[in-house]
Amino acid sequence: MTSTQAPAPTAADITATRGQDSGGRNLFDDFAPLGNPLRDGLTDKRTPDPCVMVIFGVTGDLTARKLMPALWDLAVGHPLPEGFSIVGVSRRSWTDEEFREEMRAAVVRGARTPVTDEAWKQFSEGLFYVAGDFAAAQTYTDLASRLEAIDTERRTQGNRLFYLATSPTYFPDIIENLGTSGIAERREIYSDPRERWNRVVVEKPFGHDVESARQLIQEMATVFSEQQIYRIDHYLGKETVQNVMAFRFANILFEPVFNRSYVEHIQITAAEAIGVEGRGGYYEDSGALRDMVQSHLLQLLTVVAMEPPAVFRGDEVRDEKVKVLRSVVPPIGPQVDSRAIRGQYGAGYMGGKPVEGYLTERGVRPESQTETFVALKLEIDNWRWANVPFYLRTGKRLPRRVTEIAITFKKVPHLMFRNAVDTAPDSNVITMRIQPDEGIAIRFAAKVPGPTNKLRNVPMDFYYGSTFGETSPDAYERLILDAMLGDPTLFQRRDEVETAWGIVQPVLDGWANGLSPTRQYDSGTWGPAEADAMVREDGFHWRRP
Ligand code: BG6
Repeated sequence: MTSTQAPAPTAADITATRGQDSGGRNLFDDFAPLGNPLRDGLTDKRTPDPCVMVIFGVTGDLTARKLMPALWDLAVGHPLPEGFSIVGVSRRSWTDEEFREEMRAAVVRGARTPVTDEAWKQFSEGLFYVAGDFAAAQTYTDLASRLEAIDTERRTQGNRLFYLATSPTYFPDIIENLGTSGIAERREIYSDPRERWNRVVVEKPFGHDVESARQLIQEMATVFSEQQIYRIDHYLGKETVQNVMAFRFANILFEPVFNRSYVEHIQITAAEAIGVEGRGGYYEDSGALRDMVQSHLLQLLTVVAMEPPAVFRGDEVRDEKVKVLRSVVPPIGPQVDSRAIRGQYGAGYMGGKPVEGYLTERGVRPESQTETFVALKLEIDNWRWANVPFYLRTGKRLPRRVTEIAITFKKVPHLMFRNAVDTAPDSNVITMRIQPDEGIAIRFAAKVPGPTNKLRNVPMDFYYGSTFGETSPDAYERLILDAMLGDPTLFQRRDEVETAWGIVQPVLDGWANGLSPTRQYDSGTWGPAEADAMVREDGFHWRRP
């Protein structure tokens, strides 16, 4: 230890700095600065074992925009294991050198940390490329010999993280071939931390509906055990989403009022200003309900509505998430008409400039009814949330990019200032800003200075940026690192995925039967008028964030 390092903490320091429960257990071990005594041998360290990450579909958009920049930022800012290597697999006939050049350009474009020649040289020595068709056995023969050579040269010890960054149509071929080639080894449980491991990370969309999700779950289960499968939803890697749990469960102030006695309603918004940006082909098959609601918005709902897990660890957290998802009541039958509004952007103006509508985007069918906007009313049938409506809304080409969860509380039972106020104050609102302007605001009524009892709503605001003074890591950094460490807490378990599909399926069915037809909205507006009518009927209005 050097003289500048702080002395080792004493037991008293540890107790004093941690929020422990009465049994001495720390609910937020990952948020505490001193490590985690409850994690098992596999995850009780934040530097992963030496390993090779194999990315299928490495020439695609996701690798260039998200994965490679995140891996670079991780490599520079966090101790990745010695010899850490990445093998890209795709059909394009790149050499290792070409692959490295392409990845460098992607990192320069997308990473937080600037690229220097020396650091890049070191990082890129661990980048390799295998060209081949995902369905061809030869690809896996080539991959296997590449992996063996890397294990020998870079001492990666046979540990593998497979990452499926391809279109989902290739998932079955890749999984099957990983199994038959013997590259993947099915393991139920790793009892010895020194044993070599392999894990697979799967990108969304995980299935297209309940049936196809179940089928994919079955197919994957023939090659990998549930413990080896990491189903990613990048929203869970966002700092602000994890902070919803910290806000609720690491403070005594808020949790007592997070229930039906105090909360009037909850709005979850994920608005995007962009359109489908050249992904018309993908989007035609997906639409906003599958693309955003089944995954990201339901994840936001779980973190705001679940019961406190006993400990911040894989199964404990996911048990609670599944429990709350199982209590969600989606619109059923004719209710779909008024509780599941869909819209599609037409032409309009964004930032003063004219933009085209969805129907003229590349890859979109001219008569497409695909929704680029959804507004949904859900209920949660449990002790805590009965009769509190949850309104979810997402859309593309809305006026601005903003993702937030807004909890609106009931009004005070009796306002003693009624003769003196200009207007009765609105309800208290807690707004969790997921992005941008990451932070939390609490709105409350205050007395306006002066001789009368005038009241006004004022905000109490916390901003991540100014409080912590550094940019948050990208969601993919956290999630890739967790997968390497074997920590599944922020990944979706199979029952979670199935239950989430079960919530959107009645809406998909209702829409397929012509309920709640797709309504046009102009680009640059907040979606179709029917979405406003849905909340107005309950006496509310959408927030204009
Ligand atoms: C992706 C969707 O999962 O999430 C995209 O496929 C969407 O359509 C994106 O634009 C939004 O992610 P973020 O992190 O920008 O909110």
